[in-house]
Amino acid sequence: MIIPRHTTKAVLAALLSAASFVSAVPFDTRGSGASSTGFKLIATIVNSDKKLSVPIQGAALEGAHVGAGLNTAVLNITTPGEIFYQNGTAEDVRAGKVNILTDGGTPLYPYGIGIYINETSPASPVAASINGGSGTLGVSLQAAKTGLAPGILHYGAASFMACDESLAYYGPSWKFAVVKAYETDKEKPIAIPENCVQINLHPLCASLPALPAGSVSSHEFANRIPCFESVSDII
Ligand SMILES: *[C@@H]1O[C@H](CO)[C@@H](O)[C@H](O)[C@H]1NC(C)=O
Ligand SMILES: *[C@@H]1O[C@H](CO)[C@@H](O)[C@H](O)[C@H]1NC(C)=O
Ligand SMILES: *[C@@H]1O[C@H](CO)[C@@H](O)[C@H](O)[C@H]1NC(C)=O
Repeated sequence: MIIPRHTTKAVLAALLSAASFVSAVPFDTRGSGASSTGFKLIATIVNSDKKLSVPIQGAALEGAHVGAGLNTAVLNITTPGEIFYQNGTAEDVRAGKVNILTDGGTPLYPYGIGIYINETSPASPVAASINGGSGTLGVSLQAAKTGLAPGILHYGAASFMACDESLAYYGPSWKFAVVKAYETDKEKPIAIPENCVQINLHPLCASLPALPAGSVSSHEFANRIPCFESVSDII
C-alpha cells in the first residue's frame, strides 16, 4: 500500500478500512508499523506521579460484571484484558460513526464501549461501560495526526480518568480502577479528584479470535487499525 505524504483524515480512513478486507494474518507488521483488526486497550497515566492503590500504568481495559449484560469499564493489570475491534463500514469511518466492540457470552454477542458525558455538568466524570449491544456511536481510535502511528481512544471532546473506587455490586472493600469520561475546557482544566488520574488508552495489537458458528457477533465490519506490538512500546 502506498501512503501519500499528506494524508487527509478521510483518505486515511478509507485506506484503513480498505485494508481491513485483507485480513488473512492475525496482525500485520509490514511497512511503517503494525496494524490489526483486534486490539487490547492499554492505559498510560497523563502527567501525574500520584500512586493509587490499584495499578493503572500498562493495565488493560475490561468489563467488571455488574448485572446481566452490564459491565463497568475498569483497568486490570493482572488479567489479559478484553480484545476489542472498531466496527463500521468505510462510510461509517468517514462520518466518524464507528463504535468499539468486544464479544462475550454464549453464543458470542457484541458488547460495546459506552461513553456518557453528563449533559448538565460535562466536567463531572461518568463511569464508562462495556454493555451488551453497540455501545456509543462515535467512539473510535483516533488516528495520530501524521502517518499511520497508532491513535488513542477518542470520543468527541472527552478525556478519560481512572479512579480507585469500589463498585456497589462487589461491596466496599474490593477496589477497582474505574474508567470515567468527562469534558473540560482546555483553558480551565478541572482538578482531577484525589483518587483519580487522567489516562489515555492505546491499542495493543491482538489477534481477533474467529467467531464460532451460531455467534450473534459479526466481524464483517472490523476495521484494520494501526496498533503497538508490545506493551513496552506503549508505557
Ligand atoms: C450530572 O452532574 C450533576 C451535577 O454534578 C449531578 O447532580 C447528576 O447526578 C449527574 N448526572 C449523571 C447522570 O451522572
Ligand atoms: C457494526 O457496523 C455495521 C455497519 O455500520 C452495523 O450495521 C452494525 O449494526 C454494527 N454492529 C454493532 C453491534 O453495532
Ligand atoms: C483483576 O482481576 C483479578 C482476577 O479477576 C482480580 O482478582 C483482581 O481483584 C482484579 N483487580 C482489579 C484492580 O480490578
